[in-house]
Amino acid sequence: MKISMNIFVTCKSGFEQILSRELVLNKFSSIKNGSGWVLANIDESLGLPDTRCREMCFPLIMLENPLNIEGSSVNNFVETLISIFIDKIKAMKIESTWFYGFSSAGEDNCVQRVKTIEQSWFEKLRKRMSRVAKLAKNGIPYSSNFLFGFFVYFIDSKHAFVSLQAMAFGQQRMQMDARAPSRSYLKVEEAYQIMGIGPKAGETVIDLGAAPGGWTYSALKRGANVIAVDNGALTDELLTYPNVKHLKEDALSFHPPSLKCVDWLFCDIIEKPELIMRLIKKWVENKWCHKFIINFKVGYADPITVIEKIRNPQTGLISLCKLFKIRQLYHDREEITVMGEVKII
Ligand SMILES: C[S@@+](CC[C@H](N)C(=O)[O-])C[C@H]1O[C@@H](n2cnc3c(N)ncnc32)[C@H](O)[C@@H]1O
Repeated sequence: MKISMNIFVTCKSGFEQILSRELVLNKFSSIKNGSGWVLANIDESLGLPDTRCREMCFPLIMLENPLNIEGSSVNNFVETLISIFIDKIKAMKIESTWFYGFSSAGEDNCVQRVKTIEQSWFEKLRKRMSRVAKLAKNGIPYSSNFLFGFFVYFIDSKHAFVSLQAMAFGQQRMQMDARAPSRSYLKVEEAYQIMGIGPKAGETVIDLGAAPGGWTYSALKRGANVIAVDNGALTDELLTYPNVKHLKEDALSFHPPSLKCVDWLFCDIIEKPELIMRLIKKWVENKWCHKFIINFKVGYADPITVIEKIRNPQTGLISLCKLFKIRQLYHDREEITVMGEVKII
């Protein structure tokens, strides 16, 4: 018997068609979509959904087998959501932390309404099931599998999808540092969160296309030594750090000093993805870096073709890496970020 499952997936608004194509590439079929979301279907016999979706680029949050509900008022939604939750958990023993998260496609008036619904729902839950409510944590943590909880996503003020299983892909808004020379700083900081690791004191970072210096600043701030390669200028303040060396050279032909493996390669050059791919492959194949964070500009390219090339098991980067992540970050615009750790032996 063929068993299929629906998955509700959110993405940045404007990227629904691209997300649908990425889902199809991962053997989902896309059923319908709206602003910032896609409803997809998978045949479960092809394997666990967790495993197949874990390393996708465009999803922000996935809800497993969601219910589609409709409401006419805040109270009406709160009542419906309380009864769904109580009904779903009545046969369960909840004895450890569980998560809840209510969100929306971000349409202005929806955000406040969703907050109100979430607060009233939780207040009601506390009154009716205080022991269960005490174990609740707000938010959906980044994880590589579906987590148990209560997750509601409003696609407009009258309709929502509800599920007891959600998976978050780790994108998050980072806090700007007033001393950072550019907003690009936020991207590299977010990338460390997705990788679960960032540069450490004493490590060496080569930053290709470094100016004005947001990524370089982020590494310097952590005590790393940075070789910043860019024909353009770094900010004056950055040049006061003793552990930065600015080389006005062509980043595309640059290689590490004495061809020795460095701890980190950063690359944030505005160039065609094929060119960046060739550059990074050269670094990874020659084992010139342990870890890398690379931003691909996909505004004038087809992002799905770029992803297919990067992920190609024979000619791409994955087989050369022991850790590999690809994401459209919260702070990415028409860009995607590839992060990894190279297999050295
Ligand atoms: C998007 S900016 C980098 C921003 C930087 N990551 C930051 O955090 O401030 C791209 C940089 O790449 C540099 N660039 C582009 N092509 C280059 C090349 N072939 N060699 C060196 N630098 C290059 C540009 O001069 C520009 O400063």
